Amino acid sequence: MADNGDGQLRTEGSDGLGATGVEEEAVAAGEGWVAGGEMLLSVGLLALALLAAYGLYVRWGRRSGPGAAAQQNQAAALPRMKRRDFTLEQLREFDGARKPYILLAVNGKVFDVTNGSKFYGPEGPYGIFAGRDASRGLATFCLDKDALRDEYDDLSDLNAVQMESVREWEMQFKEKYDYVGRLLKPGEEPSEYTDEEDTKDHTKQD
Ligand code: HEM
Repeated sequence: MADNGDGQLRTEGSDGLGATGVEEEAVAAGEGWVAGGEMLLSVGLLALALLAAYGLYVRWGRRSGPGAAAQQNQAAALPRMKRRDFTLEQLREFDGARKPYILLAVNGKVFDVTNGSKFYGPEGPYGIFAGRDASRGLATFCLDKDALRDEYDDLSDLNAVQMESVREWEMQFKEKYDYVGRLLKPGEEPSEYTDEEDTKDHTKQD
């Protein structure tokens, strides 16, 4: 019985632990189960993370081929957009499928994100924002279709943290992309921009 691989039997004989030893081993075995469970959970989480990363890699990998490069070059060859304001309906035309330019709005400002077509093109991970007011999706960190409103969105139900996030995203877009004009509220008239305003630094907003 001394060497049969069964911990409980072993304790009866040569290890001299007695009943306490049995209990300790039982506790240790229990902990082993818990540890095993935790490990399984960690492995499961790791597998999920790897799967998610792989999904992203596949999506982005597809876009970083020669097609994506050609799209990028095409974007670089486009003249800078003339400054103008947009209604929600006008903005929607610039979704990357109907017109060569891709635009989106954040916090009432419209940006030309054509240079970021790998993100906002029809195949891009953030293609849902193309031609749309992206504010709500960015604020809630959500890429679902219903994360954006079809009607004009005044964002009035967003909380302070979400509104701060919208402003931070706006700054980020301002840094990286050309500002084109304002997203008009329903009934609001577009501004008339002079040639001088049109040629001045596009990142400067009104
Ligand atoms: C697992 C989740 C996500 C991962 C791993 C991820 C990863 C990334 C990475 C690596 C970049 C930088 C790409 C580059 O500059 O080359 C990026 C940019 C960006 N992400 Fe995400 N992202 C995730 C979720 C989201 C979500 C949920 C949103 C919005 C709701 C979002 C919006 C953006 C935007 C707007 C950019 C900037 C693209 C640009 O430069 O124009 N991301 N993301």
